[in-house]
Amino acid sequence: MTKLKNNEPESGRRSFLKVGATLSASLLGAPSIAHAFDGGTKQKNPENANITKFRTLGTGKHSLEVTALGLGCMGMSYHRGHIPNKNASIALMRKAVEMGVTLFDTAEVYGAYTNEILVGEAISQFKNEISITTKFGFNIENGTMAGLNSRPEQIRKVADESLKRLKIDVIDLFYQHRQDPDVPVEEVAGTVKDLIQEGKVKNFGLSEVNVETIRKAHLVQPLTAIQSEYHLMWKKPEEGVLAACEELGIGFVPYSPMNRGYLTGMLNGQTNFYAANDNRAGLPRFQKEAMIANWPILEFISNFGHERGLTPTQVALAWLMHQKPWIVPIPGTTKIAHLQENMAVADIQFSAEEVREINDGVSKIIIYGDRYTPVEQKRVEN
Ligand SMILES: NC(=O)c1ccc[n+]([C@@H]2O[C@H](COP(=O)([O-])OP(=O)(O)OC[C@H]3O[C@@H](n4cnc5c(N)ncnc54)[C@H](OP(=O)(O)O)[C@@H]3O)[C@@H](O)[C@H]2O)c1
Repeated sequence: MTKLKNNEPESGRRSFLKVGATLSASLLGAPSIAHAFDGGTKQKNPENANITKFRTLGTGKHSLEVTALGLGCMGMSYHRGHIPNKNASIALMRKAVEMGVTLFDTAEVYGAYTNEILVGEAISQFKNEISITTKFGFNIENGTMAGLNSRPEQIRKVADESLKRLKIDVIDLFYQHRQDPDVPVEEVAGTVKDLIQEGKVKNFGLSEVNVETIRKAHLVQPLTAIQSEYHLMWKKPEEGVLAACEELGIGFVPYSPMNRGYLTGMLNGQTNFYAANDNRAGLPRFQKEAMIANWPILEFISNFGHERGLTPTQVALAWLMHQKPWIVPIPGTTKIAHLQENMAVADIQFSAEEVREINDGVSKIIIYGDRYTPVEQKRVEN
């Protein structure tokens, strides 16, 4: 039977009902940000389902303690269709801070630049209480991504410009977004190491890399986290990367933890993506045939969730969080109700038997469609 962490079964049930109750209360009468915030000082609203569980990415001098889930900010500006009104996104990010979320993920290329600017405007005033992570690794021309570039001068330029856009003094975690075949990862790690010594960056991360790259980089500058795609429909990190992270004491941040929204059940064969700002329109796994063919996985997690009062999104996120205690997913959303649903996952506790049940069920389901186009696939190492 599903239990809520740190609770006896009975009190767990009461807490669960409380989460549900506070969720509906906050949906019915959520205080405006103007009320919830007083002159930039964070005021915790006791009526909110706050996130109180923490996890540690990385080890020792390069460890970063963050909430058990973070917020992916990309979709508020980039790749997820309709771009919400700026004030709504600012309110959403501040709501997340108010709920206690301390990890916020962005990148220079999201927008390009616009997402970092938005994040800076929304939450830089809380810079001492939260961690903002961003990424380098591309050239940007005419406002869009224009090829890989992780040359030292480019990394330095991005760091300086990201600091300004984000309105912060130091980047808490600076990821290389994709490997650059023209620049050895040791040189990249060395450049970030210099930025750390100069006080511009606190921690180093890599995205979509293989074990060999992780080992090479980690020797030069200890890594705090690997950020790569990982969820019930993409388990490649289980083939070596997670074991390397465990061995080396590196955290893991699964991006697109609900498979870009598919595992929420809100997308189906009838979904039309807004191609001008939604990369799912071109991804094989999001073509109509694949979306229909992959429905059994959603049916499975929906049924699992129905028996336990959980949404498919919550089952997908909770499964991820049960893989390792140093895994911190960063679900993205543009809606406060979804934010609350997603962050409530920090309190979900599956038994070992329940995790096995999910693994067994999912292992029998065939997943259709590649996750990336051939061009994008070339940029990832797994
Ligand atoms: N390192 C990398 O290369 C990389 C690549 C991609 C993404 N990322 C990071 O990962 C973050 C998340 O990734 P993602 O946005 O691709 O995928 P995701 O988090 O798996 O899914 C986001 C989608 O799910 C929907 N959603 C979220 N919560 C929901 C809920 N409770 N119910 C129904 N729908 C819900 C969102 O729509 P609504 O807005 O309607 O909620 C959005 O369309 C990004 O923001 C970014 O920071 C990193």
